[in-house]
Amino acid sequence: MEPRVALITGATRGIGYAAAARLAALGYRVVVAGRDPGAADRAAAEVGGVPLVLDVTREADAGRAVAFVEAEFGRLDALVNNAGVLLDREEAGLGVALEKVRATLEVNALGALRLAQAFAPMMVRQRYGRIVNVSSIMGSLAQAGPGYLAYRTSKAALNMITRVLAAELTGTGVLVNAVHPGWVRTRMGGPEAPLSPEEGARALVWAATLPEDGPTGGFFQGEGKPLPW
Ligand SMILES: NC(=O)c1ccc[n+]([C@@H]2O[C@H](COP(=O)([O-])OP(=O)(O)OC[C@H]3O[C@@H](n4cnc5c(N)ncnc54)[C@H](OP(=O)(O)O)[C@@H]3O)[C@@H](O)[C@H]2O)c1
Repeated sequence: MEPRVALITGATRGIGYAAAARLAALGYRVVVAGRDPGAADRAAAEVGGVPLVLDVTREADAGRAVAFVEAEFGRLDALVNNAGVLLDREEAGLGVALEKVRATLEVNALGALRLAQAFAPMMVRQRYGRIVNVSSIMGSLAQAGPGYLAYRTSKAALNMITRVLAAELTGTGVLVNAVHPGWVRTRMGGPEAPLSPEEGARALVWAATLPEDGPTGGFFQGEGKPLPW
């Protein structure tokens, strides 16, 4: 069988980079997507993947990504929507600038939806696909607290996007799940976080490589521990 193909957004550093390296080690052809061309080239060379310039907020970039994957591999087996921003760290929701909320939604929620919409038809055609939305427990309605309104709202929206797409794709061979990587030592997570990027990436890799009878429309931490919405 041909090797499977995975595309990871925001794969130039942090959890996305670690997921790209792991999937490559598992034998996947990996498209290392990043918005900075130099960073994408470097990361792809390091993990043994192919670079792709992709800003998830740009419609034209999504179209180019589909054309690139189609031409290069003719299929996409796993889409890992990992790119994310945290713009309202430690800020109160009552004071956060709406522009920050809008910019956060644009990357964390709409960026993931844009790419899922772009690649789902290819996955449905081949009757196989895994869409992994890298969410956060901060987006859980059940566990919501004060602050981080923009970030929490964007991840809650991403969770709903996950549920709706999973329902619409039931029976097509395409599984769609949201995962929480845990608190991870990256530029976003900071130096105090308990998990390494490699440990955080386990949830992404698990959801990207689910077997045919794997779950869809779920929210998980680690390798399949369900989380409250
Ligand atoms: N770290 C944690 O503790 C933690 C916990 C829960 C969830 N998460 C989630 O895990 C994911 C990865 O986070 P991380 O901790 O690895 O953060 P990170 O080190 O800050 O990396 C974020 C990545 O997203 C990319 N990115 C940002 N905006 C983008 C855009 N418009 N288009 C394409 N790429 C873009 C960044 O690219 P540039 O290098 O170009 O900026 C970078 O590669 C995020 O979705 C985050 O919300 C993280």
